[in-house]
Amino acid sequence: MNLVFENLRKQYGSNVAIDDVSAVFEPGLIHGIIGPNGAGKSTLINMTAGSYTVTSGRILLGDRQISGLKKYQIAGSGIARTYQNIRLFDQMTVLDNLEVCYYADDAGLAWKEVLWPPYAKSREAERHAQCRKALAQFDLLPWISEDAGSLPYGRQRMLEIARALVRDPSVLLLDEPAAGLNHAETAELTARLRALRAPHRIMIIVEHDMDLVMALCDRILVMHHGKLLFQGTPAEVQGNTEVQQAYLGTSNDIDEIKSAAQDRRAKLGLRARQRSG
Ligand SMILES: Nc1ncnc2c1ncn2[C@@H]1O[C@H](COP(=O)(O)OP(=O)(O)O)[C@@H](O)[C@H]1O
Ligand SMILES: [Mg+2]
Repeated sequence: MNLVFENLRKQYGSNVAIDDVSAVFEPGLIHGIIGPNGAGKSTLINMTAGSYTVTSGRILLGDRQISGLKKYQIAGSGIARTYQNIRLFDQMTVLDNLEVCYYADDAGLAWKEVLWPPYAKSREAERHAQCRKALAQFDLLPWISEDAGSLPYGRQRMLEIARALVRDPSVLLLDEPAAGLNHAETAELTARLRALRAPHRIMIIVEHDMDLVMALCDRILVMHHGKLLFQGTPAEVQGNTEVQQAYLGTSNDIDEIKSAAQDRRAKLGLRARQRSG
């Protein structure tokens, strides 16, 4: 089931943030969205997750139109996200931060749980198993009973992704997952995200860290001033002069693009040496 953007447009007043963007995202692949600040990357994520409405155009998951649906309906159709700025419940435990994902659909079953305690117990066991599985994928089990707010920043980033993962979403939207992470944490994140690739899952990652994008993504969309400037494989993106100019005009990111391949080779070499040594 593909996720499809059809002539998407988003205006904030007179500011056109997204201008006629069409794209197809396929299951089993990791899609990257890059572009300078203000290019419209987060707006695409926010419209897909239903946090923002679309001004015109459509978003479809398979043949179901999801633009225009309520946020909870979109979440219910298997689309999960993380935010550019971490949004955890700081005063709640790591486990509870994941358990809240079940509240909406468990509300309707509450009467059953009250009337039949064994049912409540088995539901709870099932929820816990799912939560533990997601936490294990990010090595967060040692923190399961800690308050989320007490975790180191890097762990909080991982926890947000674990939370997005707990319902086994068919579309996983990650908005700058590596923001604020150090080199080692970014390398760890890259490996953990790679492990989330699954035949049924569409992954979309908005990210500035070119090292991560180039190492992880199968396809990359380059956004510039609300328009889709280019799409292709990491190698195609790195070789495209239009993309290089877009970055050169606005930031130093081009240097990162250029050095990404080199860096990656160096890092892979280092890791290979660590493994063999
Ligand atoms: N909630 C909002 N209200 C008004 N303008 C917004 C809002 N969110 C984003 N924008 C504008 O839309 C454009 C794209 O922003 P954004 O999608 O956040 O870009 P990116 O994530 O690529 O940095 C920018 O011009 C930004 O100022
Ligand atoms: Mg953004």
